[in-house]
Amino acid sequence: MCGIVGYVGAREAAPILMEGLRRLEYRGYDSAGVAIQNGHGLGVVKLAGRVHALQERLAREPLCGGTGIGHTRWATHGAPNTRNAHPHCDCTGTIALVHNGIIENADALRAALERQGHRFATETDTETLAHLIEDAAGATLEERVIAALTHVDGTYGLAVVSATEPRKIVVARQGSPVLLGIGENELFVASDASAVLEHTRSVVYLDDGDIAVLTPGEYHVIDGDSHVQLRSVDDIAWDLTAIELGGYPHFMLKEIMEQSETVRATLRGRLLFEQGTARLNGLNLPPEACAAIQRIVIVACGTSWHSGLVGRQVIEELTGIPVQVEYASEYRYRRQLALPGTLTIAVSQSGETADTLEAMRAARAAGSRVLGIVNVVGSTIARESDGGIYLHAGPEIGVASTKAFTSQIVALVLFGLYVGRQRDLDEERGREVVRRLTQLPQLVSRTLALDPQIQALAERYAGTRNCLYLGRGVSFPVALEGALKLKELSYIHAEGYPAAEMKHGPIALIDANMPVVFVVPKDEVYPKVLSNMREVQARGGRIIAITSEGNGDLGTLADQQLPVPATLPLLSPVLTSIPLQLLAYHIAVRRGCDVDRPRNLAKSVTVE
Ligand code: AGP
Repeated sequence: MCGIVGYVGAREAAPILMEGLRRLEYRGYDSAGVAIQNGHGLGVVKLAGRVHALQERLAREPLCGGTGIGHTRWATHGAPNTRNAHPHCDCTGTIALVHNGIIENADALRAALERQGHRFATETDTETLAHLIEDAAGATLEERVIAALTHVDGTYGLAVVSATEPRKIVVARQGSPVLLGIGENELFVASDASAVLEHTRSVVYLDDGDIAVLTPGEYHVIDGDSHVQLRSVDDIAWDLTAIELGGYPHFMLKEIMEQSETVRATLRGRLLFEQGTARLNGLNLPPEACAAIQRIVIVACGTSWHSGLVGRQVIEELTGIPVQVEYASEYRYRRQLALPGTLTIAVSQSGETADTLEAMRAARAAGSRVLGIVNVVGSTIARESDGGIYLHAGPEIGVASTKAFTSQIVALVLFGLYVGRQRDLDEERGREVVRRLTQLPQLVSRTLALDPQIQALAERYAGTRNCLYLGRGVSFPVALEGALKLKELSYIHAEGYPAAEMKHGPIALIDANMPVVFVVPKDEVYPKVLSNMREVQARGGRIIAITSEGNGDLGTLADQQLPVPATLPLLSPVLTSIPLQLLAYHIAVRRGCDVDRPRNLAKSVTVE
């Protein structure tokens, strides 16, 4: 949601905080600010707008000092404006803090604090924390933070500085991700590793309930009773180039174009051709556990929910186990049916999406074994699940998910293969899947070569106001994903629908102004989709068909065809989704949209 950073050390904090905020801007980008201990109090600068605007402001009004905190915001409480931008201070201006999360009981706390005479300057939930700390008893900042947090319901990743305790940052975590970066005689705070990688690869992931106290070169972690907590120091595997544009105009295009490599990375070391199965060391699902699975529930949000839908068909096909796919935000509040043999899989690129995390926790509380299919190493879902599969797709910076989607599908196929072979999937069939998976990276490269054609299409459709995406079987979730990409990037209203379902309503939308994108690879439902295409053509709809190479059937049925290489039907979504990613990207660029920072969105939704 929001991004927080902190620094305490011998160097000037401002440039380090700004670089960190620039790296975290994909988490939220409607306002930003910093607070720095300047030797005679706290210097606070904040404004509505992007991190680069804050950078320009600090260039005109520099803040000096080696200890500071910073924030880039995705507004939840209080409009995105300068007044509500973080950091927030107490009445005296001696305490400043930045926060990622939501204080559920902020209204009640605010009313109580106002009755005690506190004056609030903003509409935010976060400001209550500053006044609570101001009010709290304790000889040290950390004691006061601990005391203040006993009154708080909600989620937080928090960093606090005080004018009266120089060279100290107090950090707290409950529900929102925070890590410490361990440098040479300097320490960093960040919502995720991309903000500290420039300075160190050594990070400490804080757990819920942790309070960390940072002073130059020294830190310790305590719990709410001030008992010291030991936390491991982990190494970040990827390097800076992974979070640089690398010559591309946008992270989204870079991430689309690197999918041949990222699919290869998800497969690396996991294919066993002779045995016709997959090796998934982190899954922690021994053969007997595979045999005991009665049903699988996939919980996810957004694009991850779409890959979950593909996963359902793949897993049912390869294992014979019934799979249901649930919107995590709905599932977490439904009655949990604690049926024996239930396995819950949380699919999440960031591993921090609050609804998916809570749905996973609810399933566990109801007795289900929980697995995570996650991209971000060390994220909460990864650390709290009983086992899982890392995508190894590298950091995904573009807010619109692309390479994570294709790698999630590959991971779900690997899961289905592994569990299927532990049950009744025969070796030959397993080998066929392994063979086709091995070919996938190269087929992805061939699909990416369609880009010039897709640019021409984008030129033609950039002015459209609506768009319908249709597909059947495993292509239905691809249609949903194509529609989501167009919506979130170009703000064009778009809908994805099962192709046959079109006759039950959406067909009313069809006319010469409605582009209809059919995802129609040659598979077992292909003939059925052809009839749906005829129904659209008969009503003057303009058809774009994502179909299999060498498919001469479509003739005049489609206005434009984008041929993707043939593969196993179960794997086709990895290929058919790529032209839809590129189409949405190029249309958004032509409409002058901010592709990497679409309006109103954030990369990881860590609040409810
Ligand atoms: C997709 O492009 C969006 N960014 C969004 O729908 C995203 O997929 C959703 O928020 C889930 O995120 P996660 O995979 O990190 O849990």
